[in-house]
Amino acid sequence: MKFFIDTADIDEIRDLAATGLVDGVTTNPSLIAKTGRNFLDVVEEICGVVDGPVSAECVATDHETMLKEGRKLAEIADNVAVKVPLTPDGLRTCKALSDAGTMGTVTLCFSSVQAVLAAKAGATFISPFVGRLEDIGEDGMQLIADICDIYANYDFGTEVLVASVRGPRHVALAAQLGADVATLPPNVLRQMFKHTLTDKGLDAFLADWAKTGQTIL
Ligand code: E4P
Repeated sequence: MKFFIDTADIDEIRDLAATGLVDGVTTNPSLIAKTGRNFLDVVEEICGVVDGPVSAECVATDHETMLKEGRKLAEIADNVAVKVPLTPDGLRTCKALSDAGTMGTVTLCFSSVQAVLAAKAGATFISPFVGRLEDIGEDGMQLIADICDIYANYDFGTEVLVASVRGPRHVALAAQLGADVATLPPNVLRQMFKHTLTDKGLDAFLADWAKTGQTIL
């Protein structure tokens, strides 16, 4: 299972990339706005830190302009995955970019039939938003199960990128379902390391080790 980091904060990305556990990055216009920085500069900088796919989102809503934006974003680095919304224009753009060999992330997916459309449009990643579905009382993880089941019936090549993740439980469920990728807010990746018994056990080991008076180095 791959882990992407869902942020445009370069310091967070550098910090977490150092764990060796980060396979890519996702950004969106809201995350870019939060940085207060120039979009293209931020994407270029992230692509220099992480080797894997870096999603950068188009903001036009019509196909022609979206395609121009997508081509410009794709020129920044080979690991840019151009992100488009799940609309007819977005999928048309995804198909054109995919035919030209550019990676594409289709975002704002909330149903399994939308995921089928994205796969047919040649998306590299489909990005279903589990947290936002749960915010309106729907079952986000059931959507992931449905998409994984449907994709297993075919040879689409599109990876399921679980998005709008709110906590480690979502990651565990996504892993059980065999989702290819989860994109994690930085705090979720940090929470995944934590268990009180890990902390307690380490304290006890180190206390006992101190009593030996030994050192390894
Ligand atoms: C994914 O690429 C999106 O940026 C993200 O997961 C959205 O999450 P949110 O619902 O927490 O904004």
